[in-house]
Amino acid sequence: MEKLKHVISSRQFKDPGFLLSLFESAHQMERDDVFHALTDPLRGRILATLFFEPSTRTRFSFEAAMQKLGGGVLTSENAKANSSATKGETISDTVRIVSGYADAIAIRHYEQGAAEAAARISPVPIINAGDGVGEHPTQALADIYTIKKELGRLSGLRVALVGDLLNGRTIHSLLPLLCLYPGVTIDLLSPAQLRLPPLYREFLAERGVAFHEGERLEGVIEQADVAYITRVQSERFVSRQEYDAVKDVYIIDAETANRLKPEAIIMHPLPRVNEISPEVDANTRAAYFKQAKNSLYIRMALLKHLLA
Ligand code: CP
Repeated sequence: MEKLKHVISSRQFKDPGFLLSLFESAHQMERDDVFHALTDPLRGRILATLFFEPSTRTRFSFEAAMQKLGGGVLTSENAKANSSATKGETISDTVRIVSGYADAIAIRHYEQGAAEAAARISPVPIINAGDGVGEHPTQALADIYTIKKELGRLSGLRVALVGDLLNGRTIHSLLPLLCLYPGVTIDLLSPAQLRLPPLYREFLAERGVAFHEGERLEGVIEQADVAYITRVQSERFVSRQEYDAVKDVYIIDAETANRLKPEAIIMHPLPRVNEISPEVDANTRAAYFKQAKNSLYIRMALLKHLLA
């Protein structure tokens, strides 16, 4: 495997062979965890989690991952309010200081580009755990790992990406990874005001990836191998009125879920609001809770790669 220094964007991952090695490592982590056979390759190492935006899955799974590998954690779970950022300290100064205490830093920040800026000055690995409406590369790694586990392949898939494609950073990170595999077709389903930004559409076009844009689930969802649903990101809207106009535009209920192919999977990075009804959780196509669990093992594999 090529050695990564920082993990800022999923565009860094250009080699499907590297991803396969990461998947194998994650799978080994899962087996060892189930059989209580994990070793402590990161004993004595420390991960700092600096979260300037809310999180459940990403922060907890990073911290669990580090501890399961024998390492320790320093955490600031509401860094916007509870770190010296409130006194006016810049993210650069914060990272300079924290890198003296920790061997790697996972940052979630409300500004796009914050993790990249941190990486420019950090002597220790920076992991982008979500930067505003930018990217969330470790979620995307968990996502394609989940697709591979559930469907057994990543090539030749038809993937429907549904919801807030404008603000959904998990989508922005997932697209470059999907582009690594031949024969992938992507359906982009969103309301007009939440279309995928031109940057990402140009990226797909440059790579010759077949993609279609639309608004209606009907006629598309039935052909999908993967239906990846996203939350409309209330926190990115300037007015409540604008959010209310689109918040429930897609709702996957039992009837919609059953229109998918029997072997298709339904994914969601979570948290969900109304976009997948709880009744879908028992559907054999529902993969979103497995996706969240897989993120633990992919983050273990990634931390081991960066720090062992
Ligand atoms: N998927 C994801 O990033 O979830 P959290 O916001 O809970 O970390």
